[in-house]
Amino acid sequence: MKVLISGATGLVGTALTKAFRSEGVSVHYLTTRKSKVEADPGYRGFYWNPAEGEIDTACFEGVSVLINLAGASISQRWTAKNKKRIIESRTQSIDTLIKGLQSYGTSELEYVLGASAIGIYPSSQTEYYTEANTAVDDSFLGETVKLWEEHMQGFEELEIPYSIVRIGLVMAADGGALPQIARPVKFYAGASLGSGDQWQSWIHLEDLTAMMAFLVDQRLEGIYNAVSPNPVCNRKLTKEIGEVLSKPVFLPNIPVGLLRLVLGEMAYILLASQRVSCEKIQMEGFSFQFPNIHQALQDLL
Ligand SMILES: NC(=O)c1ccc[n+]([C@@H]2O[C@H](COP(=O)([O-])OP(=O)(O)OC[C@H]3O[C@@H](n4cnc5c(N)ncnc54)[C@H](OP(=O)(O)O)[C@@H]3O)[C@@H](O)[C@H]2O)c1
Repeated sequence: MKVLISGATGLVGTALTKAFRSEGVSVHYLTTRKSKVEADPGYRGFYWNPAEGEIDTACFEGVSVLINLAGASISQRWTAKNKKRIIESRTQSIDTLIKGLQSYGTSELEYVLGASAIGIYPSSQTEYYTEANTAVDDSFLGETVKLWEEHMQGFEELEIPYSIVRIGLVMAADGGALPQIARPVKFYAGASLGSGDQWQSWIHLEDLTAMMAFLVDQRLEGIYNAVSPNPVCNRKLTKEIGEVLSKPVFLPNIPVGLLRLVLGEMAYILLASQRVSCEKIQMEGFSFQFPNIHQALQDLL
């Protein structure tokens, strides 16, 4: 099997590429950085520039599965310019893939998996979200994810089966949010954020890549939440990190006002609350290697 991954040089893409290659799956990947284009046996890069609708359609050669992870980081100041980049990097990437496929042909492609995010669900302390929920969070994040998923519908017109994976907070040893959350705890400066009550639906990176490989294997269609079975509130997450690192967390919570002052509107990422269910993928037979936060943190920290 040969897969094509866009956004393959990032946190999730690097781990997913490694997992596929260890199974003997060939990987083609798309990158916006010419310096990242490599050509090893079983691992071949292609340059693209979604902002200009530019793509090397040789990337589709022999590819039966396409995985789209591309998107500019949301962890940057939410200025008008950055917001435009965050949205367009996602919508234009999908549109460029679709246009490329229209010109190359779709006969070899059997399945598409598109990354999305749980940020689509309205922030709430009490709701427990399944994929059936249709409400969208009234925020820049909600708007971004809605547009991201709407553009995926282009694959319907190409008549290619596809899934959308709503990813939660990805926990990894190197990269993503965890090292940044753990750093102050290591220096006895750990504190919960805001009320500390906000739900954080997280997933261990290994479970995420395993779940993506499972969706591909089974060719499952539709929306799937990629979160562990046991979301935690921010206070519990901070405490657990302290326990695993044997560092007490004793400081008062960081007030919302201070977070907004330092981070601006982007502080929303840390304060939004989404308790999300993974029952749908479990019902398909997927099981998590790291269902509990303590066990995941012990593995990663
Ligand atoms: N990590 C999380 O906690 C999390 C949670 C929810 C959703 N997600 C989503 O899942 C996807 C993968 O996450 P990740 O953590 O691996 O992200 P990441 O480390 O930021 O990697 C994303 C990749 O997207 C590509 N990219 C960046 N700007 C781009 C642009 N303007 N146009 C096209 N491609 C661009 C980059 O690849 P090149 O530089 O090689 O082009 C980059 O390696 C992302 O779309 C992210 O939003 C992640």
